[in-house]
Amino acid sequence: MKSGLEDVVAAETVLSDVDGKNGRLIVRGVSLDDLVAGSRYEDVLELLFDGFFAGAAPLAAQLGAARVEVFAHLASADVALLRLPPVEAMRALLARLDDGDDLASALRLVAAPAVFTAGLLRLKDGRAPLAPDPALSHAADTLRMVTGSMPSAQQVAALDRYLVTVADHGLNASTFAARVVASTQAGLTSSVLAALSALKGPLHGGAPGPVLDMLDAAGTPANASVWLENALANGERLMGFGHRVYRVRDPRADALKGAVRGLASSGAIDPARLALAEAVEAAALDLLKRKKPDRPLDTNVEFYTALLLEALGFPREAFTCVFAMGRVGGWIAHAREQALDGRLIRPTSVYVGPRADVAA
Ligand code: ACO
Repeated sequence: MKSGLEDVVAAETVLSDVDGKNGRLIVRGVSLDDLVAGSRYEDVLELLFDGFFAGAAPLAAQLGAARVEVFAHLASADVALLRLPPVEAMRALLARLDDGDDLASALRLVAAPAVFTAGLLRLKDGRAPLAPDPALSHAADTLRMVTGSMPSAQQVAALDRYLVTVADHGLNASTFAARVVASTQAGLTSSVLAALSALKGPLHGGAPGPVLDMLDAAGTPANASVWLENALANGERLMGFGHRVYRVRDPRADALKGAVRGLASSGAIDPARLALAEAVEAAALDLLKRKKPDRPLDTNVEFYTALLLEALGFPREAFTCVFAMGRVGGWIAHAREQALDGRLIRPTSVYVGPRADVAA
């Protein structure tokens, strides 16, 4: 038995390839570097949906219409829902969408994390949600609905870069959950709900909020090493470091670090904040190398995600929701691939409990 199914091949996919030895990511034949160079999230969705849905391209106007359609569900958000963490409130609203497996259902599911998160954040603050503008790109409209003002071209490009970077990533825990549910032919909403539930844990998509908590606790670049050493001595994991597949640096970390540096050079990120993050990263890498010499542990996607999303005006408790805004495209494509081509996923277990026939 392989604990955590490490290195177990559980699916064939045409969607993405994670090369953990060389630190490379390919999505439908396109390298991450090429993918992030000027692509909007809509372009990557078209790439992921190609062959899985008829009429998926061009997609921007259809996605804009889907945002308008799902907005109506925010009217059902009550006080109990608003008390939940954003990702759980968003999941509850998403569960109300129909469980179809056509393009219209898929686009409602892509639209929902953005529209629901933006609306819920405003409702929590006692403000009315802003209705979607279907003429805007998905990233621009999302930022407008969250912050209440029109974003700059640089902010839109930065969010697009993030959404594109995280859109798909092999058989990670949430995508595997989506495929398991899809293999029962349960429908796309059920698959996305399973995936979202897997995503929210701190070992997967729940890490970037705690990355900021770590930066705040470290406080200054000079204090970084001591703080990290104490955290490790207390048995804590350093958030934003380590990966099940990558044995070298996660290529998505650099794609996002580039965007963060761009925002810093235009004043959108406080240079002191970036300097602190870089000092914490360097100290953490040094420490992990010394304390865990047998396990290569490098920066993962979540570290610079935290800085990027903070600079774009998302509150840290909603970071996992923003991850879902991007990864939902990959979940849906994998669910379709599984439902169309795959068999029911039903592995087996080794029974290690007592047996009636050998009981004393
Ligand atoms: N900080 C400190 N030690 C770590 C870290 C870390 N971030 N990551 C792994 N280790 C150590 C473990 O303690 C363990 O040490 P041991 O053998 O002495 O007990 C060893 O490395 C192996 O750890 P595993 O848990 O077996 O590694 P696994 O592949 O299961 O974990 C994971 C991968 C969950 C991402 C892990 O590295 C981690 O917890 N990272 C911190 C949380 C995080 O950044 N999550 C986001 C991941 S990226 C994503 O999902 C989008």
